[in-house]
Amino acid sequence: MNVTDQPGARRGLLDGQVVVVTGGSSGIGRATCVRVAEEGAAAVIVADLAPEGRESGAATIDLLAELGTTGRFVATDVADAGSFAAVVEAADEFGGVDCWVNVAGISDRVDFLDVDPERLRRVMAVNFEGTFFGSQAAARSMIGTGKRGTIINISSVGGMRGFAHASTYSASKGAVRSFTYALADAVAPHGIRANVVHPGQVDTEMLRVEMRGGSPIRIPLGRKGQAQEIANAVVFLASDLSSYVSGESLVVDGGYSAVI
Ligand SMILES: NC(=O)c1ccc[n+]([C@@H]2O[C@H](COP(=O)([O-])OP(=O)(O)OC[C@H]3O[C@@H](n4cnc5c(N)ncnc54)[C@H](O)[C@@H]3O)[C@@H](O)[C@H]2O)c1
Repeated sequence: MNVTDQPGARRGLLDGQVVVVTGGSSGIGRATCVRVAEEGAAAVIVADLAPEGRESGAATIDLLAELGTTGRFVATDVADAGSFAAVVEAADEFGGVDCWVNVAGISDRVDFLDVDPERLRRVMAVNFEGTFFGSQAAARSMIGTGKRGTIINISSVGGMRGFAHASTYSASKGAVRSFTYALADAVAPHGIRANVVHPGQVDTEMLRVEMRGGSPIRIPLGRKGQAQEIANAVVFLASDLSSYVSGESLVVDGGYSAVI
């Protein structure tokens, strides 16, 4: 008998789901893989650049194994829309995608006056096109299998606000935000929900290394966020707790963007 079949046993919020997480090798992506596994996901597909990335996709798979969840690493460059076919194929081995989370992204700190077209295109290709075509692959798969699944995109408070050194990043994350509204409308007739999460400053390698700890800002809750706190928002949006939530922007920033 499965543990969750026992009378009174706690059921996970995502029991049996097959979940794809782009950028699942590190930071918010890895925390998302772990949280969905803790909530009962049957299989997690980790789609990231290389098994030994910034942190390591292989280590994410090990963490999943410790939780008794099957993990598969699929080398994926989200900037190449063609690479999603292998991700969908991996999910199909387990019955198809129920939930797809587009987390993969890059930061870009540069003065607006120094941006050249190639630089802007690169940031848009990873952050926006990766999310756009990842969502398309997810939707096509769910429609094909008849699954009433969920798509969750990770934007940023930078997709709602901007500053001089984040023009490319803000443009890409703003596009993720508004695209998700259109996506939610496009997939709703198939019973699929789509939502976008806007993290504030989260203590990951991206913030520590590329963003040099992040700009000094006033965060009402008085601290940076933890990757798991973003993953918790993803779990909510992937679960039936949010069954009537679609086309929504969920800000998870310790109150930062709410204050003046
Ligand atoms: N950390 C923060 O403060 C913060 C705040 C707001 C939004 N975000 C967003 O959250 C997401 C995750 O950020 P993080 O802080 O965990 O960063 P991270 O750098 O720790 O993780 C990003 C992951 O994406 C992967 N990745 C990068 N380019 C890729 C590509 N072309 N194809 C496939 N995978 C690729 C990396 O290998 C890495 O595993 C990003 O989209 C980021 O913009 C982060």
